[in-house]
Amino acid sequence: MISSTLALMCIATFFLSTIFVELIGSGHSIASLKHLIVSPGLWILVPAMIATGASGALMSRKRQGRLVALKKKRMPFIAVIGLLVLIPCAIVLNQWATAGSFDTRFYFVQVIELIAGATNLALMGLNMRDGLRLSGRLLRFARHRQ
Ligand code: HEM
Repeated sequence: MISSTLALMCIATFFLSTIFVELIGSGHSIASLKHLIVSPGLWILVPAMIATGASGALMSRKRQGRLVALKKKRMPFIAVIGLLVLIPCAIVLNQWATAGSFDTRFYFVQVIELIAGATNLALMGLNMRDGLRLSGRLLRFARHRQ
């Protein structure tokens, strides 16, 4: 699944580059990154996530079982965290960074965004692992646990 790998790479890139730039970057470089995450970042991530959900739903018509059920259960959490936490956080952090207001409020929302991002990375990573088991690319596991 190209779209799901792209979505996972987006979140991982946003997450790691945020930590990196906030540890060693200037206010200006933080603002540049926050801007890039919103645009083009979100314009890549959101369609990739929609395509992932759609292709997952299509593929799960033909496949059933424990792994598919687990993947299906994780997807609403991934979507809700993305839509209700990550996207609003990315938008306000971009606005505040552009305005140069790196105050307590900024870092409070930043910590929430990082926690939500780590949660989604974990859930998406589990979906990727189970996807690879389903497609037989992780044969060792697929034989026993499918
Ligand atoms: C962030 C979410 C997701 C990620 C990262 C992800 C990732 C993957 C990956 C990497 C594969 C293996 C593709 C291959 O080896 O060719 C896969 C397969 C699969 N995924 Fe997902 N997936 C996600 C969401 C979903 C959802 C929501 C469903 C629906 C229940 C789903 C159902 C499937 C099925 C049924 C397969 C096996 C396809 C086959 O028969 O080979 N996926 N997924």
